[in-house]
Amino acid sequence: MSAALERLDAASQQALRLEAVRYGGEQIALYEFAAPDGGELAPFTAGSHVDVHLPNGVVRQYSLANNPSERSRYVLGVKCDRASRGGSRYMHESLRVGTMLQLSLPRNNFPLHEAAPHTVLIAGGIGITPIRCMVHRLEALGLPWELHYAVRHRSEAVFAEELGSDARVHLHVDEEHGGAPLDLARVAREAPTGAHAYCCGPAPMISAFETAFSFWPASMRHVEHFSAPSIVWQEGGAFSVLLARTQRKLEVPADRSILSVVREAGIDATASCEQGICGACETRVLGGQPEHRDMLLSAEERAAGKSMMICCSRSKSAELVLDL
Ligand code: FES
Repeated sequence: MSAALERLDAASQQALRLEAVRYGGEQIALYEFAAPDGGELAPFTAGSHVDVHLPNGVVRQYSLANNPSERSRYVLGVKCDRASRGGSRYMHESLRVGTMLQLSLPRNNFPLHEAAPHTVLIAGGIGITPIRCMVHRLEALGLPWELHYAVRHRSEAVFAEELGSDARVHLHVDEEHGGAPLDLARVAREAPTGAHAYCCGPAPMISAFETAFSFWPASMRHVEHFSAPSIVWQEGGAFSVLLARTQRKLEVPADRSILSVVREAGIDATASCEQGICGACETRVLGGQPEHRDMLLSAEERAAGKSMMICCSRSKSAELVLDL
């Protein structure tokens, strides 16, 4: 099964209890979830995230920061975003220890390539959460790694005490360098041959990473997006979708997503971010040619055309046949 189709299996939810909230850094809290009966949780791999279904109806994706060998808890790091639309602010202001929440099973769009001879980890701000998880895993495997962790202020550095004294950790505090960002071009130049590089952080850092590492093979540089560029629906034009399980045919107008049309037709389609960054809405394609607009599928997966994110992607052909 391809990595893309494996992700389709992670739509289920589990009811977990918020066991603890800890201070992570300025405006950052660490949330620890466990099974109410103390049982084992579904396993996860380094780079995974879960969808958190909040009581206010909002669904948000957060990366798992703890050691993947732990089966008793999920630890999420959440920064309170001043522009929050009900996700991080709600978590910071309204969630109380003991609250039961629905979380999806872990899903991994940012997997670690454990056969690499060296791993370069780059984190910006709260983007440290999946990277911290990767450090746990690389340590468990005894594999070489280096971490470049950029924050604007030292007070925002999460896990600083755990990571701070390790010579492989390079903390870059922007305000202590006159506001200058981390020199990613130097990191790209100095990395050992054969290394894989991973970057998670805000959009400007992802963009700088993609520029600095553009001379690396695409298969050896990996990014995790917090948010997607805005999607212009009108560019794709209208098309039809045939739902293979019921043989119903739906028309998708230029200004609507497949997801919204399918849901309006009464189909219970799974989705979460609705921005093409989480993978929750991934759907098998049985016919037609998708026009991929997500931030997840690899070039090979796009070319294969076997699945698509129906929240954002459209169609190059007049009709798509979907496994719905
Ligand atoms: Fe997240 Fe579609 S709902 S990728």
